[in-house]
Amino acid sequence: TKAWPTHPAQEPSETDIREAGAMLAAGETVAFPTETVYGLGADARRTSAVEQVFLAKGRPSDNPLIVHIAELSQLNGLVAQITETEQRLAELFWPGPFTMVLPAVKDAVSLRVTAGLDTVAVRMPDHELALRLIRAAGCPIAAPSANRSGRPSPTTARHVLEDLDGRIGGILDGGPTGVGLESTVVECIGPGRVRILRPGGVTPEQLSEAGFEVELEGVDSSVAAASRIAAKNSSTPIASALTVTEAPRSPGMKYAHYAPRGEMRLVAGSREAVRAHIQAAADHASAKGLRVGILAYDETASSYHADIVLACGSLARLETAAQSLYAALREFDERGAEVIWAEACPPHGIGLALLNRLSKAAGGKVDRVD
Ligand code: TXA
Ligand code: MG
Repeated sequence: TKAWPTHPAQEPSETDIREAGAMLAAGETVAFPTETVYGLGADARRTSAVEQVFLAKGRPSDNPLIVHIAELSQLNGLVAQITETEQRLAELFWPGPFTMVLPAVKDAVSLRVTAGLDTVAVRMPDHELALRLIRAAGCPIAAPSANRSGRPSPTTARHVLEDLDGRIGGILDGGPTGVGLESTVVECIGPGRVRILRPGGVTPEQLSEAGFEVELEGVDSSVAAASRIAAKNSSTPIASALTVTEAPRSPGMKYAHYAPRGEMRLVAGSREAVRAHIQAAADHASAKGLRVGILAYDETASSYHADIVLACGSLARLETAAQSLYAALREFDERGAEVIWAEACPPHGIGLALLNRLSKAAGGKVDRVD
């Protein structure tokens, strides 16, 4: 695996980007930073290139990939006629952590990218290096998150190499990513109407504030339940705009994901009940000789005693928690946590995506305490 920049502590140079782009154009895989997480890129039109992505990740082949573009003009030939609503969404949220599922032009990308669906997921990342790399490659780039399938997504180049060193052609190191969670995946279901298939960097509130009617789908039942409560009790626009259905249609939503190696449970409820429940469970596990991890927030971490207590950002600024979640999950692995309890967060703003990933990391195991 070739790494750019060749001199650590430097920004990738124009030459580095040209080399990485040439590697992609030659049908090899290159990992690169985006504003969400690191992606593992390949020429979306070439089946042999895309197959290397699935191989390197160990990813199930029925899970389609997102195609990354650097300009709107790259939609030509890739997707069929888009609607006015899709056009507006693209103008408002691209470049950004926002992916649209659009009608695919037949044979425009490899069948391995779409997993045989007649739609293709497209996004324009809001990251200078990513955009320059896509331009240098001169083709649409299929890129899932650059982790081994089932592992937490990578937010640094080190995370990528932990999982994929020796399995990929190259890696462009652009430092830590910004958002820290993947993009929001949506499909348009009518004029002004968007369905969220995977919550992510663009929040339901942002979509509804921009005047779109928002529906939430494919979110596991614990998150769906939390969102329903939020919708009932809140006067934000989301209250009226958010409806929840449960059958996942984004194929990736059905896989266990983002998981640390230790067995994790998510605990939701009032702050004091959560604290008491987690500490009691942690003490019980410690007494059995297990190595215990607790995932809390800046405001709550100091009230716990356990082998590994990590503060995953601030409850008052959940953007910071989103940024550090995946690194925290990896740290539990490094430090050998065998069981992990994690505090839930409110499902507002980026909190919805955070809660979704926490719940996936916990394999859907949620204790509700109140
Ligand atoms: O932020 C992100 O989106 C990152 C960076 C690298 O761009 N990429 C990423 O890709 O998260 P991946 O492969 O880990 O997730 C792609 C998601 C999956 O849930 C997949 O099922 C869904 O997008 N998806 C892809 N194509 C689809 C389609 N045609 N219809 C419905 N869902 C689709
Ligand atoms: Mg992924």
